[in-house]
Amino acid sequence: MKTQYFTTPIYYVNAKPHLGHAYTSIAADVATRFRKMTGQETYFLTGTDEHGDKIVQAAEKQNTSPKEYADKISRLFQDLLPALDVENSNFIRTTDPAHIKVVEAVLTKIHDSGDIYFSSYEGIYCFGCERFYQERELVDGKCPDHGTAPQKIKESNYFFKMSKYQDWLIDHIKTHPGFISPVKYENEILSFLKEPLEDLCISRPKTRLTWGITLPFDKDYVTYVWFDALVNYISALGYPDGDLFKKFWSGTRHFVAKDIIKPHGIYWPIMLKAAGIEIYNGLNVHGFWNVKGSKMSKSIGNVTDPLEIIKEYGLDPFRYFLMREMAFGLDANFTEDILVTRINSDLANDLGNLFSRVLSMTVRYFKGEIQEAHPGIEKDKNLSLAPEASKTIEDYKKAMTIYEFHKGVGAVWQYIRFMNKYIDTTEPWVLAKHEDTLPVLETVLYNLIEGLRVVSCLIYPIMPGTSVKIQKALAIVKKENEFYSLEEASVWGQVKKGTLIQSPEILFPRIDTKRKTEYHFG
Ligand code: ME8
Ligand code: MG
Repeated sequence: MKTQYFTTPIYYVNAKPHLGHAYTSIAADVATRFRKMTGQETYFLTGTDEHGDKIVQAAEKQNTSPKEYADKISRLFQDLLPALDVENSNFIRTTDPAHIKVVEAVLTKIHDSGDIYFSSYEGIYCFGCERFYQERELVDGKCPDHGTAPQKIKESNYFFKMSKYQDWLIDHIKTHPGFISPVKYENEILSFLKEPLEDLCISRPKTRLTWGITLPFDKDYVTYVWFDALVNYISALGYPDGDLFKKFWSGTRHFVAKDIIKPHGIYWPIMLKAAGIEIYNGLNVHGFWNVKGSKMSKSIGNVTDPLEIIKEYGLDPFRYFLMREMAFGLDANFTEDILVTRINSDLANDLGNLFSRVLSMTVRYFKGEIQEAHPGIEKDKNLSLAPEASKTIEDYKKAMTIYEFHKGVGAVWQYIRFMNKYIDTTEPWVLAKHEDTLPVLETVLYNLIEGLRVVSCLIYPIMPGTSVKIQKALAIVKKENEFYSLEEASVWGQVKKGTLIQSPEILFPRIDTKRKTEYHFG
């Protein structure tokens, strides 16, 4: 069985985590949990990117040292993970001595092979991005990211011969479908590669920046922060000799947003190629969360703290919302309004109601004792919910396998709505009135309970907490940290006749939009 290695970007420690960081980490967590359900062995890495100018400047503003500042902010990123129910296997920091050793080793290897050279360079440099720009990349003469004019600087630096690998990279992308996904980002990279690729400046003189990893072949320079950061993906696995590296590297998929496809889609594969390391398997690129229609920014004041949303609305609704609302690859909009609408319609109304109706009816009509389906009646009256469950599982699996989480979730919700309609048309409350329709009622309720079981299994990657809550209520919960595989989920007829269930708790309290006049976010 092929192993799977998922990574998030390592986040800069120049500011505390926001909605966008939470999204990527949750998306990678959902992918990891789903792969575990299919029986794959997984490794999931996240971490913090701690070197470079940005961090020096942020630390200076706080009158503290870069290391102290990095420690403080990295801690916030680490503490966020359990609060999001994100189960990472490892957390890497680029200030870890083991990471620094690997960066030095990779630099030495590429330098020895002749792909790094020393040269004087004059160019336009954005201090915010910490990189040189080409004129054609600017928008109205300004950095597209920072909106400030880059400065002309001239200095001697080390350069990485990326141009040498341009044709190789184009060929690699074209011969490895899905290397960059969704395909619109692959096209973006290929179109960028139509222009000649310039060599990458990979050093910064210590006269300008000391907060970085010293070049192993020149003590007067530190390495460019991206050359340091990208290496985290292999240093965390103990490259070159670590067992984790041997086991997981060939099954690598990096999750990033569209802001950093160039370093991931161009620098990184070329660095790997030049260092003689197997190229990673693929890059999953998602869009940006805007808040109230605008890019999150300090000046607009719409930088959204995931912990505050969770405090107000709960963790599982937040995870559900993120996965359902964003089509992976496209931008999405966050407002409290949209969140509340989703909670009320999809969670309170669809799933919450289904759960509470099915359990309450079992309590009301059978004192909480689960009955069984009668095969003859089920067939004659076409009451089985199993065929629709199989179709749901198939659609779900197909979508989740290619990281189309919104479609995976959508498939499950289609089934949930199908079951709510099934209740409306079978009218269990009418069936309960007559002794001779009780076997029909038993058949209906058993199917609903089984359908609910399937739903509880499928929502596990997205809402692990709610999955367990439903399974507890159906008395089918596994031991802590265990979950149903997709194969187990597919086996119809697992809930046992005679099982006693209780009156249901409310899974998702409806949010009163009339009373709730004050919104806090967005
Ligand atoms: O770029 N919507 O770190 P970073 C969705 N250290 N995702 C968003 C987002 C938004 N509005 N804003 C940020 C760096 N993200 C480098 C990475 S990797 C070797 C080095 C998420 O703190 C998204 O995953 O700027 C994006 O790619 C990442 O945060 C950028 O984080
Ligand atoms: Mg950024």
